[in-house]
Amino acid sequence: MTFPIESVRSQFPSLATTDQGQRRIYLDNAAGTQVPQQTIDRIVDFFRRFNSNTGVFNPTSVEVDALYDDVVKALADFLGTSDPGEVLIGANMTTLTYQLSRSLAHQFSPGDEIIISRMEHEGNVTPWLQMAEDNDLIVKWLEFDRRTWRVEPALLQPLLTDRTRLVALNYASNLTGGVNDVKRLTAMAQAAGAMVYVDAVQYASHRLIDVTDLGCDFMACSPYKFYGPHLGVVFGKRARLEALHAYKLRCATDELPLRFSVGTPAFELIAGLMGTLEYFQWLASEMGVSGNRRALFKGAYAAMGEHEDQLSETLLAGLLAMPGVSIQGASSMAHRVATFSFTHSRHSASKIARQLSDAGVYCHWGDNYAYEVARALALDPQEGVLRLGIGHYNTVQEIEEALGLIESVLAVRSE
Ligand SMILES: Cc1ncc(COP(=O)(O)O)c(C=O)c1O
Repeated sequence: MTFPIESVRSQFPSLATTDQGQRRIYLDNAAGTQVPQQTIDRIVDFFRRFNSNTGVFNPTSVEVDALYDDVVKALADFLGTSDPGEVLIGANMTTLTYQLSRSLAHQFSPGDEIIISRMEHEGNVTPWLQMAEDNDLIVKWLEFDRRTWRVEPALLQPLLTDRTRLVALNYASNLTGGVNDVKRLTAMAQAAGAMVYVDAVQYASHRLIDVTDLGCDFMACSPYKFYGPHLGVVFGKRARLEALHAYKLRCATDELPLRFSVGTPAFELIAGLMGTLEYFQWLASEMGVSGNRRALFKGAYAAMGEHEDQLSETLLAGLLAMPGVSIQGASSMAHRVATFSFTHSRHSASKIARQLSDAGVYCHWGDNYAYEVARALALDPQEGVLRLGIGHYNTVQEIEEALGLIESVLAVRSE
């Protein structure tokens, strides 16, 4: 069935927004996506009808409690677990990771080892480095292969010892777009007795997560990268979460998932997240998919992924044909998502980004907080890469227009 791009786009009001009459081409999706009307409606509805704190008898409060329950159930289906108690909602991925790293430190002893992959966004690096520093742990770096753009199992094996306690691993890089074989790497780490903390922030924008199949202990993602509000979500295996020392107020609940909810949650955003999850179900039904909620999420992601792959082929082919362009990532869609970074032999990333942005092509540049990746690739520390991130509401015409603009920017002889 053809992807219903026009009805998809009509669900996202911001796609029609202009800057002084100039249309926008959103290719900054790797940094954050636009939201559908369902998300906006849910947030407005929250403030209009049941803006309240939780836990008392007022009808509004009862409704907030029901909302939270509904959202963690829907998120459990989204992540692929049958236990909503395993779904933590917080401010963003980084905050949740800091929080859990502090809790996990209680289980580690001086001299224990942690492994951090070099493919990470800093959100899955600094919390662990600081945890290691505070607790006299040994940090080992897990390199990625510069040809495959992935962490190869053979690179992990020699780092694992009987002191390895944790492996921090990226699912998809927010700079190169490379996707790791998380299932295999997780099995190896766990066989050595280590836990695995996966950063799926970039992956979740493009492919559906299945925590049960992957077997990882923890997995983090950020709804604002998959068409939702600015929130973070972490899956943790129940046994792991229950065993953790929780940094929580003494009188706050010890029950999962609220055990790790510090202070009053952003209920209006959580309501908005429900709207995003409903949008995916709407998209699946547009594609003729039926079944339970998980089946609908699968249908929506399959359709979005296929559409994005087509756009990616066009973007990749166009960029590869431009003299002086070096793609910092794989040149084919195998084992990668639709996040593309490149450098140019003569033009700096910031200058290209400025000109594209002036022409209404939204993009990002720099190291994009993939600090270790940028250093491993010996990128200019000030400039980094020009990054284009495709979302499922982009069109082939937008990609072609963006390519035309990039070509004309790069064609200028002097910097
Ligand atoms: C791969 C990856 N991990 C982590 C983060 C940080 O997420 P958050 O802003 O939710 O803390 C980002 C944000 O760009 C990211 O792309």
